[in-house]
Amino acid sequence: MMGDSSGASLTGCGGRKLGLLVLSQIFALLFFVFLAVPHLYIQFDGVGPFGAPAVVDVDALRMRGILLPLPNDLAKELLIRNALPPRNIDLFPSLRDDRIVIVLYVHYRPHYLKLVISGLSKVHGINETLLIISHDGFYEDMNSIVESIRFCQVKQIFAPWSPHLFPDEFPGESPQDCKNDDNAEKLGCTGNPDQYGNHRSVRIVSLKHHWWWMMNTIWDGLTEMKGFNGHIMFIEEDHYVLPNAYRNIQILVNLKEKKCPYCIAVNAAPLDVTSRGEGSRKLYAEKVGNVGYTFNRTVWERIHAQAKQFCLFDDYNWDITMWSRVYPTFGSALYTLRGPRSSAIHFGRCGLHEGYNQSGPSGCRDSNIEFGFVERADMVPNINHRWRVHKYSIKGYSSGFEGWGGWGDKRDRHLCLCFSSMYEKPLSL
Ligand SMILES: *[C@@H]1O[C@H](CO)[C@@H](O)[C@H](O)[C@H]1NC(C)=O
Ligand SMILES: *[C@@H]1O[C@H](CO)[C@@H](O)[C@H](O)[C@H]1NC(C)=O
Ligand SMILES: *[C@@H]1O[C@H](CO)[C@@H](O)[C@H](O)[C@H]1NC(C)=O
Repeated sequence: MMGDSSGASLTGCGGRKLGLLVLSQIFALLFFVFLAVPHLYIQFDGVGPFGAPAVVDVDALRMRGILLPLPNDLAKELLIRNALPPRNIDLFPSLRDDRIVIVLYVHYRPHYLKLVISGLSKVHGINETLLIISHDGFYEDMNSIVESIRFCQVKQIFAPWSPHLFPDEFPGESPQDCKNDDNAEKLGCTGNPDQYGNHRSVRIVSLKHHWWWMMNTIWDGLTEMKGFNGHIMFIEEDHYVLPNAYRNIQILVNLKEKKCPYCIAVNAAPLDVTSRGEGSRKLYAEKVGNVGYTFNRTVWERIHAQAKQFCLFDDYNWDITMWSRVYPTFGSALYTLRGPRSSAIHFGRCGLHEGYNQSGPSGCRDSNIEFGFVERADMVPNINHRWRVHKYSIKGYSSGFEGWGGWGDKRDRHLCLCFSSMYEKPLSL
């Protein structure tokens, strides 16, 4: 018994020693987890029910010198929302391998969004893919329109550094900021004027910021997009997508490789947004337009490699920036391929800038938007693989073009560069 008990006590002692060892290991592990795992559970304490990890670890990035502005409470909540899984996975449990992901980026025109979503609900094939809606800021009525979608998997993301979320500090406007053509030195205000002497305007810079944040997040940030090597089609809040758009884009993507080696993208509509196309029996290669532009990760990587060009160019338009500074680095591969009849229509007459209103929907209204334009020809795929490609030569900006301004503030340039480094591809700043 003695032996047994001493044996037991020895074991017990050993056991205690073992217990201590295990305990200390657990402590070490906990400590490590505390340090290494993104402070999410600490930093986002109180944001509550979501509990999912945020897609961006602001603290860890700041430790690496990527100084994103500190998120306010709403921004923190949006970071967590962005990591939520898509809705409707129960209705559409699997996505097709050959899917074209659709990204709709919006600001705040709820009456437009309703129309666009009603159009999307009738698109053939949309139930095979993921629809991502990227919001420039957070608006409850926009959110609830999206939450009503039942026709496909849908994921919402919200730009957490949208100027619209920061009413009195950067990236919004702070009381110390210079305005218009203020002289910073004389007045002691904050800001750097653009090449034309004008200071930043929040409603103007927000679009380029949103576009760049969204591109980086979608290609490199979202778990849903990890390993996705297909194409993504991009549309805006005032693009009505016709029922044949998805199938047409799929056909064009296949034809692009075979018929258009100088193409980097395909489009759902002509560059000239007022045109419904030539109505001919040809395909067209032209400059990449803004309605339904569609490209793959290889092209994104080439765009991302030009982050400095994108972020340092003094033009507040993302598309003109792309055309003046990013695409020219691609050599002769600059074109997009499209059919002779548009399968998406730009209907908005109110600019996005007019759409911006802190207190509610803006006064800008398009009088009677009519949707008489969905004809029989728009119901079925109408692109023929035997058609020849007609190339419209691209009229670029001259090499001396320095941009339309609006993007002179160092803080905007820095934020833009930070967006380029939020995920796995660090960029030396
Ligand atoms: C998608 O919709 C089509 C047409 O309504 C239907 O035939 C098909 O089964 C649906 N597919 C999925 C994955 O829901
Ligand atoms: C992506 O598109 C480009 C341009 O059409 C093409 O050269 C490239 O091979 C494509 N990449 C993949 C992975 O399919
Ligand atoms: C902004 O929204 C408010 C509330 O809806 C409205 O009264 C005001 O006229 C709008 N301002 C502009 C410039 O559209």
